[in-house]
Amino acid sequence: MPKTVIVSGASGGIGFAIARFLQDSGYRVYGLSRSYPKEKYGFTHLLCDITDESQVRSSLKQIVEASDSIDALINCAGMGISGAVENTDPAQIRQMFDVNLFGTFRLTQELIPHLRKHPGSKILQIGSVAGCLPIPFQTYYSATKSAINAYTQGLRMELRPFGIQVGAILPGDTKTGFTAHRQKTDLGTEGPYGDRIRRSVERMERDEQQGKDPQTVARTVAKLLRKKTVPVFTAVGFSYRLFLFLNRILPSRFVTWILYQMYGK
Ligand SMILES: NC(=O)c1ccc[n+]([C@@H]2O[C@H](COP(=O)([O-])OP(=O)(O)OC[C@H]3O[C@@H](n4cnc5c(N)ncnc54)[C@H](OP(=O)(O)O)[C@@H]3O)[C@@H](O)[C@H]2O)c1
Repeated sequence: MPKTVIVSGASGGIGFAIARFLQDSGYRVYGLSRSYPKEKYGFTHLLCDITDESQVRSSLKQIVEASDSIDALINCAGMGISGAVENTDPAQIRQMFDVNLFGTFRLTQELIPHLRKHPGSKILQIGSVAGCLPIPFQTYYSATKSAINAYTQGLRMELRPFGIQVGAILPGDTKTGFTAHRQKTDLGTEGPYGDRIRRSVERMERDEQQGKDPQTVARTVAKLLRKKTVPVFTAVGFSYRLFLFLNRILPSRFVTWILYQMYGK
């Protein structure tokens, strides 16, 4: 009997790579996003805006009714915004928190009772290295990912007695449509930040577009789904594992200084 996995944000980028990879690996995959994937895909895709409570409810109801079991939830849908903290439109901040955080909360809350029926089931969040190493001018985005880390740790302890494994995968720069979808403010050179924001965002965009193939994240997810016990956090790729290790052992003041040299000046 194939295992059933639900992947949010499956219309493109990392979520699409995960959904297709898992489908090809023999899982029964349901993808959720607001638009259909542009590339050919073999998994079932439901249109669902994860910021809309009723859409989340009805999509998950449909999936649960059609499935013998729900074996894993991969919370991948996400978006990014950039700009100085003081100038960012509160509506934009709320929208991003609604997708990156509350969207994850909605799907997870709805599915826990179903996952609990199958010890060994898993909830995996697609977080980000930025949740551990916050980036200036993407401070709000970093805050959503940092919150995902805390959510992962707390939820893991809550669900441990039920045999539900909870972990976060932390990709670094990955070449997807995320760069083009980022909502940007403050790119002008006038004002107190001068040219810093434009330079920081340009550097980030360059790094992302030279980043890893989303398949690398898909392979990491597939590996974790096969494991009996998943780590709390899994960085994708050796260099990011090293950065996170150094972040744990070096003084925060020094780590923040390095990040400032890279993205803040
Ligand atoms: N790319 C990177 O460098 C990178 C690095 C670290 C972490 N991440 C994380 O990886 C995840 C996926 O990002 P990506 O790089 O694959 O970006 P992407 O190519 O822009 O894909 C984002 C996905 O999220 C979906 N989505 C956005 N808003 C949604 C909503 N309201 N309801 C349902 N689905 C929604 C989009 O589908 P629709 O627009 O069709 O709804 C799309 O499928 C995000 O959580 C991101 O923070 C990315």
